[in-house]
Amino acid sequence: MPLATSLTGQAALVVGGSSGIGLAAAQLLVNRGAIVTIVGRTEERLEKAKGALGGAVSTAVMDCADEAAAAAFFEGLPALDHLVISLAGGASLGPFTEVPVQGVRDTFDGKFWPYLIAMHHGAKILSEQGTITIVTGASAIAAVPQASCLGAVNGALEGMVKTLSVELAPRRVNAVSPGLTDTEAWSRIPDDIREGMYAQSAASTPAGRIGQPEDVAEAVLACIQNGFLTGILLPCDGGKRLV
Ligand SMILES: NC(=O)c1ccc[n+]([C@@H]2O[C@H](COP(=O)([O-])OP(=O)(O)OC[C@H]3O[C@@H](n4cnc5c(N)ncnc54)[C@H](OP(=O)(O)O)[C@@H]3O)[C@@H](O)[C@H]2O)c1
Repeated sequence: MPLATSLTGQAALVVGGSSGIGLAAAQLLVNRGAIVTIVGRTEERLEKAKGALGGAVSTAVMDCADEAAAAAFFEGLPALDHLVISLAGGASLGPFTEVPVQGVRDTFDGKFWPYLIAMHHGAKILSEQGTITIVTGASAIAAVPQASCLGAVNGALEGMVKTLSVELAPRRVNAVSPGLTDTEAWSRIPDDIREGMYAQSAASTPAGRIGQPEDVAEAVLACIQNGFLTGILLPCDGGKRLV
């Protein structure tokens, strides 16, 4: 199948589409003519994002950690062509021996289970030419100090991609693995500390900078548009994982 440069009329759902990488992915999908629904837990953030996106965009308030709510939500949707999952539910970061085991469980609750729930129920309504693209993270494929728990979560998700790409074929399933990316997820950190972290990471990244949400969104779009990509893990980290 050739590269689908237009997604006109195709239905796309972006879980975590009100912010950061998900919002940037939603924008590219809108630009390609897709009919986009963005999902998040906060109506206000969704409405703000919808205003910024323009085009054919709907919003849905849904917490993907709540399986009953997610099941009912997906059951109520018509067929879906593209499911993008890019939610960030908070992570316990820190030295491995200092993060309580409960913190690791919380990290799985915040990302692994909501992703799995969205994939499980979303796959049931995916059209035959449909795609699932999940946003994982560099902590699963590189040494990222203080992020071993998140690495476990991202690795667990990536571990499903190859099998699902075969099991759900001809639907395609891929993962995009970002490095440090400038999103609202980091807004909780004081400005000076965040800027220092960004500068330090940029200096040791072959690309010479940290990621922007649009960088990662372009990688997501590649997974959606290239009909010969399936079962892959696409790193989008400026080469950071190599150094
Ligand atoms: N930014 C980075 O440096 C980086 C690096 C590597 C990997 N990643 C991964 O990339 C993904 C996206 O991160 P981001 O930086 O773009 O985050 P972000 O800007 O904080 O956006 C997160 C989005 O997820 C939504 N969300 C959170 N929990 C949800 C839930 N349970 N159900 C539905 N929606 C939920 C948020 O809206 P509400 O809060 O309103 O629900 C928001 O729309 C995450 O999985 C993250 O681990 C990010």
